Amino acid sequence: MPLAKISPSMLSCDFANLAAEAKRMTKNGADWLHLGKVEKGVEECFWTDRLIGFFVHWHFVPNLTLGAPIIQAIRPHTEAYFDCHMMVSNPNQWVDDIAKAGGQMYTFHIEATKDPLGLIKQIHLAGMQAGVAIKPGTSTDSVIGEVAEQADMILIMTVEPGFGGQRFMEQCMPKVKQLRTLYPHLDIEVDGGLAMETIDVSAQAGANVIVAGTGIFKANDPAKVIQVFRDKVNR
Ligand code: DX5
Ligand code: ZN
Repeated sequence: MPLAKISPSMLSCDFANLAAEAKRMTKNGADWLHLGKVEKGVEECFWTDRLIGFFVHWHFVPNLTLGAPIIQAIRPHTEAYFDCHMMVSNPNQWVDDIAKAGGQMYTFHIEATKDPLGLIKQIHLAGMQAGVAIKPGTSTDSVIGEVAEQADMILIMTVEPGFGGQRFMEQCMPKVKQLRTLYPHLDIEVDGGLAMETIDVSAQAGANVIVAGTGIFKANDPAKVIQVFRDKVNR
């Protein structure tokens, strides 16, 4: 399995001090920074054997968008790898902007596209790596095969996307295990509710890219948390 990459989610940082927060995380041992755009609509897009449509929850208010202008503003302040999780309903639309802003991994939701292979190609042409995310309710069938073979990373969401501080969904672990068995060399990311209590089960299932917002930013000793996460994955 590939080595651990620890990716603190900037959705949980002090937004008044973005550059300092980014630096604080790399100083504490972070490899990547998890940034991304949250948009009304993606919450209710869904997948069956093909995408059938979107429901828009009009009462859903995105908490914050860390889109291209913010990514571009942080870029000169850190050498961390920018892991951009695009929780958007039209992922094709933002590829060039995020690439220009300095994004390095562009992760889109499988539920939000009818042409994942075309989108992966577009992301590669823009000079970024391509990640494919699946929500807790989405089956691995949506990515197994050509999508997982062309993608650089699969993100298994362990909460419903949109907000930090939610409870980790252990029922997503069989998906991680299945993908790890099928793709021993693939980067597999988990995102949502990762903390000291949930790292063991995630690492044992085979996740190697660990996103954590609350679990790292709100910790008394973030360096210790990052080290523990790394050791559990690289055991
Ligand atoms: C949620 C975001 C996550 C979130 C994780 O949609 O993708 O990255 O910030 O936050 P925690 O680690 O607090 O669950
Ligand atoms: Zn995320």
